[in-house]
Amino acid sequence: MSFDNKVAIVTGGAQGMGREYVRLLVEQGACVVIADINQDQAQKVVDELGFKDQLLAVRTDVGDLTSCEACVLAAEERFGGVDYLINNAGLLSAAAFPSLIDIPVEKYRQITEVMLNGQLWMARAAVPAMRRRGGGAIVNVSSIGAYQATGVYSLTKLGVNGLTINLARELAKDNIRVNAVAPGTVATEGMQPLMSVEQMAQWGQMLGRPTDRVATPDLIAQVGLFLLSDAASYVRGQIIAVDDGQQIRL
Ligand SMILES: NC(=O)c1ccc[n+]([C@@H]2O[C@H](COP(=O)([O-])OP(=O)(O)OC[C@H]3O[C@@H](n4cnc5c(N)ncnc54)[C@H](O)[C@@H]3O)[C@@H](O)[C@H]2O)c1
Repeated sequence: MSFDNKVAIVTGGAQGMGREYVRLLVEQGACVVIADINQDQAQKVVDELGFKDQLLAVRTDVGDLTSCEACVLAAEERFGGVDYLINNAGLLSAAAFPSLIDIPVEKYRQITEVMLNGQLWMARAAVPAMRRRGGGAIVNVSSIGAYQATGVYSLTKLGVNGLTINLARELAKDNIRVNAVAPGTVATEGMQPLMSVEQMAQWGQMLGRPTDRVATPDLIAQVGLFLLSDAASYVRGQIIAVDDGQQIRL
């Protein structure tokens, strides 16, 4: 896969899986905007990765459409356009709210605004820029947690699946492909306060994964890059589980 002369926006690119998307994309020739609410950490990624001409950190709150539009504008000004969007930003802390009846209303609104609406706001901001380039590709980040009915987190990820199939159909006429990855348990900075790696291994097996492997972020990001690439040009509207066989759907 080569991404020479392509421009990607990665939301939540300052750490975890997002950072891995950024690394793999710049290594394969793309220019990348790191769109993260944590600007200091995003800038640190730019400084660490060593591809300064190909990287730009733009403080972005995906839960705010105006902020998403400013991010896309910054991408166009610096790199001349937008071809790809990885809708990865999320709040793993949402897992602390298993009850849809008891979650405080403000918390519910904040989580759904970032985790579900945020993916739509970024797509709405990026699509006009992709149209100006003649097409593009979007990868939404879902989760196999979508199928586990664990409260607001799984609800938003089911919504992401719905967003993916709707946008896939709607944007086909614009030559924009939309797909999603649904990771299993991945060892990231965001997961650290929730579970140790040993607990993640046990948790996945309890839920049906036939191995004790816990994913590293690169295992997920590689599949996301495939979905962006021309090698996946006939793949549209799919939710691809990347979970070592944990969730088998027939
Ligand atoms: N880690 C897992 O096991 C796992 C499994 C399945 C799906 N996912 C999903 O993968 C994605 C990335 O997860 P991760 O584990 O790398 O998380 P993480 O917590 O390590 O990183 C999330 C990033 O998103 C950023 N962010 C948070 N709110 C934002 C906002 N409003 N606007 C812009 N950026 C914002 C954070 O600053 C952070 O850099 C999330 O959507 C998550 O739900 C994670």
